[in-house]
Amino acid sequence: MSSLPIYKAVRTVLPGEEVAARLAALVASDLRQAIAERGRARIVLAGGSTFSEAYQLLANLPDIDWSRVTVLFGDERCIPPTNPDSNFHLADIAFLFQVHPGHIVRMEGEVPPEEGAYRYLEMLYTLGNRELPIFDLVLLGMGPDGHTASVFRGSLKRALQTGAAVIITEPEVTGPPVTRLTMTPALLNRARHTVIAVRGEEKAGAVAELYGRRGDRLPAAHIAAALGPTDLILDQAAASQLPAQ
Ligand code: 6PG
Repeated sequence: MSSLPIYKAVRTVLPGEEVAARLAALVASDLRQAIAERGRARIVLAGGSTFSEAYQLLANLPDIDWSRVTVLFGDERCIPPTNPDSNFHLADIAFLFQVHPGHIVRMEGEVPPEEGAYRYLEMLYTLGNRELPIFDLVLLGMGPDGHTASVFRGSLKRALQTGAAVIITEPEVTGPPVTRLTMTPALLNRARHTVIAVRGEEKAGAVAELYGRRGDRLPAAHIAAALGPTDLILDQAAASQLPAQ
C-alpha cells in the first residue's frame, strides 16, 4: 500500500522530551514564512496531550506577528469551549490570547452537531472567499488505534467517500465518549505543510501498522499535505516497532 498518503511523510524520531520544542519550532518557522510570503498564516490545530506542551511554548515565541495569524481546528468535541476536554480550551489556555479573536475560527461544540458542522463549513467558505481554504500548516496527532483528528476507523470510509469537508463522528476509543466534529482528510490535506506528531509506547503498534499490509485501515495513513511536505514526528517509544531506518 505504498500509494498511501502517509508514505510521503518524512519521519523524524526524537527523544520524548524534545518533541514539544521541535513542534513549536516547526510552527514558528511556518508562521513566519507564510506571513513573509502571503501576509498571513492559517494554522489548523490538533487536540490531545501531544500538542498541549508545544502550545504552551507558542505563547513565548519571538518574532511572530500574531495579528496576521488565523487559527482553525481540525476537530472538536461537542462540548462547550469552557470544558477542559475541549480542543479549543487546550489551545485557549496556552496561547490563543496572542491571536485576534476575529481570527480564531472555532468549531462550536456547544451547538447541536449538525448545526456546528454546517456553521463551520460556512466559516471555512467565508475564510476561503467562497472556496475551501488552503492551510499553511496542519497539526495532527494520532491515537493508539491510528485515528487522527476525530476520524476513527469506523468513520474512515465515510470520511474518505463523502464530499463533505466537515463531518460528525462518534469516538470508538478511550477518551471522552462525546460526539465530535472533524475535518475530513480531503480538507485536512489542503495544506502547504502537515505535521503529524505521535508520542508514547501505546502507539508503537499503530505507527508500525501505518506501513503494514493493511495500513489503509488507519485514518492517519490517509493524511499528507497536498501542497507541500509532510512530517511525521515520533518519539523513540512510538517508533519502537518500526524497522531501523
Ligand atoms: C482529539 C485529537 C486527537 C488526538 C489524538 C492523540 O480531539 O483528541 O484531535 O486526534 O490528536 O487522539 O491524542 P494524544 O496526543 O492525547 O495522545
